[in-house]
Amino acid sequence: MKKITAIIMAVVMIAAAFAGCGSNKTDSANKNTGKKTTDATVSEVKTATKGKLTMVTNAEFPPYEYKEGDKIIGIDAEVADLIAKKLGLELEIADVDFDSIIPGVQTGKYDMGMAGMTVTDERKQKVNFSDSYATGVQSIIVKDGGSIKSIDDLKGKKIGTQQGTTGYIYASDTPENGGYGEKNVIGYQNGALAVEALKSGKIDCVIIDNEPAKAYVAATTGLKILDTPYTKEQYAICFSKDNSELQTLVNNALNELKDSGELQKVVDKYIKAD
Ligand code: ARG
Repeated sequence: MKKITAIIMAVVMIAAAFAGCGSNKTDSANKNTGKKTTDATVSEVKTATKGKLTMVTNAEFPPYEYKEGDKIIGIDAEVADLIAKKLGLELEIADVDFDSIIPGVQTGKYDMGMAGMTVTDERKQKVNFSDSYATGVQSIIVKDGGSIKSIDDLKGKKIGTQQGTTGYIYASDTPENGGYGEKNVIGYQNGALAVEALKSGKIDCVIIDNEPAKAYVAATTGLKILDTPYTKEQYAICFSKDNSELQTLVNNALNELKDSGELQKVVDKYIKAD
């Protein structure tokens, strides 16, 4: 009798252990992919430099990324740092021209591009994107008291943008597609140079994302943002199509930061509600 009880006990214990295993697995499984950033697989993730997460950006885009002395700060830089920490990696940031970001990610020179980058179908052909982490709006900056009073006055005007950005892509498109024609649009190396050109009267307006637009207008006298925004878009992090494993891990980390409210905290630090 004793022996039978012992056998039953053993069976019950083994069954319990198995049940435990099973439930553990579901607990730690992330809703999207089953890989939590704390899983052992994270330490094996392939990056351009072992132990590092290399983000490439264009640090001319306040408040997402800009320089304070030699340091690159901003929403993207801080969120990337939190992501890297979750993955047990050290963040390294490379600063290049905006239109060099995607090529650098495609070749695997950098692990991810994070630059207030808008998800577009054309870019999706070249790189993979994370889930979106912010909404952007293309705004129009004009001179106070200038000839452009609304978006309807843009036809035939000289429009400044940052080269390679959606502002350039949309504005330089044909009128049938809602643009103003390539010959009317100038792509500057960065937004600050476009704003400089507007100030000195070389161009009539600047089309750029609303948050940098606000930062530039706040730092310059005599400029304002038109009430009608040009277009609405989603920002996301881009990855090489060859490293979907890293993409998944970063995406999960990003979603954890969204869920915990840490992402919003970073945004609130840089963007004050108006
Ligand atoms: N959202 C725009 C785009 O994706 C502009 C981004 C510019 N970012 C930057 N870091 N300069 O084209």
